[in-house]
Amino acid sequence: MMEKKLTVGVVGLSMGRRYLSASIENGAEIGAICDSNEAVLNEKGDQFQIPADKRFTDWHALLHMDELNVIAIATPDQLHREMAEAFLAAGKHVICEKPLALTREDLVAIIKAADNAKAKFMVGQVARFNPSKSKIKELADSGMIGEIFYLENEYAHDYAKILSANGWRSDPIRHGVVGGGCHAVDMLRWLAGDPTEVFAYGNHKMLPQVSYDDATIAVLKFPNDVIGKVFVSTGCKRPYTSRTLVYGTRGTIVWEDTHPEDVLVYTVDEDGISLKPEPEIIKIVMKDHNVTKEFEVFAEHIRKDTPVLLSALEGAKTVAVCHAIVESSQTGKPVAPDYNF
Ligand SMILES: NC(=O)c1ccc[n+]([C@@H]2O[C@H](COP(=O)([O-])OP(=O)(O)OC[C@H]3O[C@@H](n4cnc5c(N)ncnc54)[C@H](O)[C@@H]3O)[C@@H](O)[C@H]2O)c1
Repeated sequence: MMEKKLTVGVVGLSMGRRYLSASIENGAEIGAICDSNEAVLNEKGDQFQIPADKRFTDWHALLHMDELNVIAIATPDQLHREMAEAFLAAGKHVICEKPLALTREDLVAIIKAADNAKAKFMVGQVARFNPSKSKIKELADSGMIGEIFYLENEYAHDYAKILSANGWRSDPIRHGVVGGGCHAVDMLRWLAGDPTEVFAYGNHKMLPQVSYDDATIAVLKFPNDVIGKVFVSTGCKRPYTSRTLVYGTRGTIVWEDTHPEDVLVYTVDEDGISLKPEPEIIKIVMKDHNVTKEFEVFAEHIRKDTPVLLSALEGAKTVAVCHAIVESSQTGKPVAPDYNF
């Protein structure tokens, strides 16, 4: 049971529908829903049985509703800053979808707004709440595969159909490396720390409807002499994957969304050299999109008044790496991510 009653307003109801379910599953109340598209508003309102007087097409209406203490922002990335600033200034706790924002100016503004606010702010890098990914993190931190020397993560997601429905994803500042690739970059940052330098190549063969590269490969240098790779494709013809591989001095972790319940861990025998013939297969129970867990963690931060793990700065650092990757692919030069926010 939560000590503090959470009453949530959700803005943007496509991805936002997951915050509606997550709030309900975590015992919070839905105090308001908002979508500028009235048809979407009413469809989700009906689906979640939200009374008509709690449905809004203008998000500003939620700013003045004293009963709301939590806002979930699930609108297009370009709108995160304006909404985060306003809701934090109004004293609401805010959970905001990834990527935190698309421009450095917006990242800086959100960090400042979160620092100045009395309320809490968390960025929804949801992959960290995927039970397979958290198991990978736990195994890597446990030393089971020794010291990490190389790691990689893909983000392969066909946007061909999503793009036609959503103009905001075609904006060149919403480059696939930032918009979706942030999941892969964030995973590597979580496992290996902040990369010090990146080098990238990109190409554009799949999505004629956008002006930016739809495939990018980046190599990254991490602290402690760790090296890594991120591959992002937003036009690929395969099921979605966010495959993660972690290579250590005593073993290797392999995970792919095509078999999401299996985390494979290869390790060596006691001699430290011979690979055991079979990997250990660690079974994971996958539930939903993991927003429920993400919201649970945010609710705990609010309830216990603890520092938020996925702060605005964390979200901004991930986008800083994404920006460095895009810049490197465009200039042909290595780029050091700028974490100086
Ligand atoms: N974590 C994940 O796995 C994941 C997955 C998809 C999207 N996202 C993120 O979630 C956010 C939303 O993405 P989406 O796929 O739902 O986009 P979408 O375009 O499908 O839906 C956005 C919704 O916001 C509404 N909207 C737009 N402007 C608004 C405004 N000013 N006020 C109120 N409502 C407004 C639209 O009408 C639409 O219903 C983005 O930041 C995106 O990057 C995250």
